Amino acid sequence: MSESMTPNESLPADPLTDHEYDGIREFDNPTPGWWYWLFGASVAFSVFYLAFWHFSVAGWTIEEAWSDDQRAEFVRVFGSVGQLKTDDQSILQQIDNPQFMTIAKAAFVGNCSACHAKDGGGLVGVNLCDENYKNIKNPSDIFRVITDGANAGAMPSWKRTFSDNERVILAAYVASLRGTTPANPKAAEGQPIAPWKKTEK
Ligand code: HEC
Repeated sequence: MSESMTPNESLPADPLTDHEYDGIREFDNPTPGWWYWLFGASVAFSVFYLAFWHFSVAGWTIEEAWSDDQRAEFVRVFGSVGQLKTDDQSILQQIDNPQFMTIAKAAFVGNCSACHAKDGGGLVGVNLCDENYKNIKNPSDIFRVITDGANAGAMPSWKRTFSDNERVILAAYVASLRGTTPANPKAAEGQPIAPWKKTEK
């Protein structure tokens, strides 16, 4: 290979190394020092990154950040509505609020599905989708059962876990499950009750 094959005639060519294979020769053109420093620095950085964002005890993991954001969002959303009322009509009205139903569904799936199944069809806990109820006549009874529990704690109390507003929208969500079709419905328990009576606003 001649010197005329360097990419830019005006730049001095890198020196050639002394080995040659099948006529192919190599310029002595090592990766620059700054590149090695950058590489080393990113490897070192990755250790801290992994420690902080994936194994953090400081509450910096993505999950923790997400649940903090979610909590802040609850406060923001509920802050603007104030205290929700717990009477039948106020509970039924929350069903029309898609944002609240999204929040309530997430709370239901996260906290209630172990006993009532994700779709409310019932496991250890009763089927919440059918027309039969053991402790419920009106939507406000749902709020009461979620708040105080039932059957000597077989259905736990959620007073300490959820704020009043959260229990109101959970009650609304449970009320909305009535009449839906779960994948594996548990046999009906309790008595059939009258349909929810929603008065128009
Ligand atoms: C540890 C299991 C368990 C968990 C978790 C649980 N439940 Fe229950 N739930 C039950 C049982 C058991 C009953 C039936 C109580 C009875 O026999 O009177 C019940 C009853 C109810 C009832 C009354 C139904 C009726 O027919 O009277 C409602 C409403 C209810 N649960 C809602 C919820 C909600 C909302 C959550 C989540 C915040 C939840 N449950 C979490 C076990 C559970």
